[in-house]
Amino acid sequence: MTGTSTAVSQTPDLDTLLDQLTLEEQISLLAGADFWRTVPIERLNIPALKVSDGPAGARGGGALVGGTPTAAFPVGIALGASWNVELLREVGAALALEAQDKGAGVLLAPTINLFRSTLNGRNFESYAEDPYLTGQLASAYVRGLQSAGVAATVKHFVGNESEYQRNSISSDIPERALRELYLRPFEMVVKDARPWAVMSSYNKVNGTYVSESPRLLTDILRGEWGFDGLIMSDWGGTYSSGQSLRAGLDLEMPGPSRARTDLLEEARTDPATRQAVRESVKRLLHLIERTGTFAQPRDVSNAAEKGEEHPETRALIRRAGAEGAVLLKNEGGLLPLPAGATVAVIGPNAAQGRVMGGGSAQMQAHRQVSPLDGLRAALGADRVTYALGCRNDRFLPALDLPVQVDYLGPENQVIASETRRGSEVMWMSFPEGVDGDDFRARLSLTLNIPEDGEYELSLYSAGLSRLTVDGAAVIDNWTNWQAGSTYFAFGSDELRASRHLKAGAHQAVIEFVPKSVRGSVAPFSAVRLGFQTPLPESALADAARLAAQADYAVVCVGTSGEWETEGVDRWGLDLPGQQDELVSTVRAANPRTVVLLQTGGPVLMPWLGTVSAVLQGWFPGQEAGHALADVLTGQADPGGRLPQIFPARLSDDPTHPETPDLQYPGESGHVAYTEGLFIGYRHADRAGLTPLFPFGFGLSYTTFELSDARLSAAEIEPDDHLEISLTVRNTGKRAGSAVVQLYVRDLESELERPDKELKGFAKVGLAPGEARRVTLPLDMRSLAYFDEARRAWVADAGDFEACLGRSSADLPIKLAFRLKSEWSAAGV
Ligand code: BGC
Repeated sequence: MTGTSTAVSQTPDLDTLLDQLTLEEQISLLAGADFWRTVPIERLNIPALKVSDGPAGARGGGALVGGTPTAAFPVGIALGASWNVELLREVGAALALEAQDKGAGVLLAPTINLFRSTLNGRNFESYAEDPYLTGQLASAYVRGLQSAGVAATVKHFVGNESEYQRNSISSDIPERALRELYLRPFEMVVKDARPWAVMSSYNKVNGTYVSESPRLLTDILRGEWGFDGLIMSDWGGTYSSGQSLRAGLDLEMPGPSRARTDLLEEARTDPATRQAVRESVKRLLHLIERTGTFAQPRDVSNAAEKGEEHPETRALIRRAGAEGAVLLKNEGGLLPLPAGATVAVIGPNAAQGRVMGGGSAQMQAHRQVSPLDGLRAALGADRVTYALGCRNDRFLPALDLPVQVDYLGPENQVIASETRRGSEVMWMSFPEGVDGDDFRARLSLTLNIPEDGEYELSLYSAGLSRLTVDGAAVIDNWTNWQAGSTYFAFGSDELRASRHLKAGAHQAVIEFVPKSVRGSVAPFSAVRLGFQTPLPESALADAARLAAQADYAVVCVGTSGEWETEGVDRWGLDLPGQQDELVSTVRAANPRTVVLLQTGGPVLMPWLGTVSAVLQGWFPGQEAGHALADVLTGQADPGGRLPQIFPARLSDDPTHPETPDLQYPGESGHVAYTEGLFIGYRHADRAGLTPLFPFGFGLSYTTFELSDARLSAAEIEPDDHLEISLTVRNTGKRAGSAVVQLYVRDLESELERPDKELKGFAKVGLAPGEARRVTLPLDMRSLAYFDEARRAWVADAGDFEACLGRSSADLPIKLAFRLKSEWSAAGV
């Protein structure tokens, strides 16, 4: 689709515009024009609106890889770990600028599903296991984004807590858990930040697709909470035409429509559908209006996307990375690294910047600063040495070189050509004359082999593919192609082969055709060639030798966006490959070993008892290495606190995934949330578990004291305001930030409730010796549970306790108060 004009025009009256649209035109607006754009109606000057993923950057309208360069922000869990509401507002505002640069008026973000199972593939993308923390942070992000005229699309509404069979599974969620946990962050954001769009999730809830659920979309979201924006489906998550529309789903994405092709017929014969069409079109027009697109249509073409960097955004990303880094252990004050020290930087994540997760959240980052580069810049290159030690790739790495793509006609003649960068090619748009559902492509690239030897090659694809090198068949992913776990489960698994190659140039050619999946063509086509030199057997020993020669060793282990991605759940909780062995080997060689962990969620740490320092850095965005070096060297205080409990073992996860069953990942189309309210710390409290690290935990380089805690009243009536105040003092010698956490415990309840629940927090930055008074308000909803029988939020009269401290397992201050009579508020 071409760009629209950038002339400033008047915002029309939406009802007048609606009256001018024919029914055909109205219906054409209710599905995308393509992957990222809505349909323009030029006759009436209705511009196209462009949407972009989301959530840690604005990728723009290209494919998931190789698009326009953009700023990569810390992933959701890293922002969640910051516990910093103001930071999230700043991030939202900076993302608005990035979206505008890409011509997008809508960002597909934030992701606010909760951490239920530790094995969720998209764990990295969400903020927290706790609905209150999630809701607070997400509201700030949405406010920041929308204050600059870009719509947020809060997703995925609701019950999409794992990737397993996500397009068909029913999340069977007990009503209280739905209300108190999974709907709660959406409710908070809708009420507090008034987002302009919501994305329905792929899954069903209690047997009904969310995108077809009148109760969830219309009664609760719009009716009870007052949401007045647009609801779009997740990509390919519209499963019916009139039914989804009448339930409240406005926009089918992407386009052109697959599910709503008979909507016109339905609307012609059914007045209720016609009315629903009108209402949904009005919401789309309203979104165009709210994003300022009538007044100032954006050029929505990919060619118009800007890829320049904003220096202040770079600085913000670096700061945000340090704000989310969680210092898990620091025995004997091993960290920060002193100036002048020599450091051996070791591991598979040392020279690779692990800056983002995988799936639709990935983008073409301006840069991917590695810990090695960050530490070299901070300490001086001459003080830093490097060894790989072992690898942690899930797939053989793709090559960064030009790939010639020729599209072939029936006689093998070339009908179109283009050059792509990188040996992973995704198709979301095509050259003129090429049919995206039915094409044949030949990809050619030159492998420059440095020396004679054995090399590993691999291929995986969403579509049929086969590889030859110098004309000889190497990998056949065509004849027996099978769906596997790549490309949102539309791709195959990876096939590998080894070949002896002589030094010099070799011609690799991949043939590719799209593949039909479940009767229709897969939503996109992609192929990836991996290539790697085998690692020498001495790699671990080489790393140990290097570690022994330096004052300190920093072992950089963890995962990457290949492991933590969309469409497939996490592999388990053990660090992949030989990484645990690498940590132990390096630790044996140098007692001053620091583990720098970068993952998108919890992992097990069998070596924890032997190492003195562990820093969890997550995937902190494009400045990763600089942000983490800031913390490792003490330029920044480790600002993060865990937004997710780290269990001591997989079986401590409330969904007990060691024996796959109905509770996780699900069976026969159902995943049963039988643990109800008891996820994360709520589960650990009830089961009396000692986690590896508790929710809310994280160390600072300084020390804090909490004192003089007071309640504004010891007894309250319903609808009274209660405030808790206390003094936080920095008692150490360095500046740092404390995260004060407030949990509420209901001592006398009619129903079973979690032992305690987070209902307030504050992040307080303090200079050495500085003290500040912090006030945390508690409203009635902070005391209430959802009473299913009464369909109401109820706070029982009786005794409560406000528990204050630094993590869910460290709450030394307890203040008792009493609600004198019951409070309640109706739900639907
Ligand atoms: C994801 C969404 C994303 C959309 C568009 C889907 O696969 O679930 O989060 O916004 O794709 O890329």
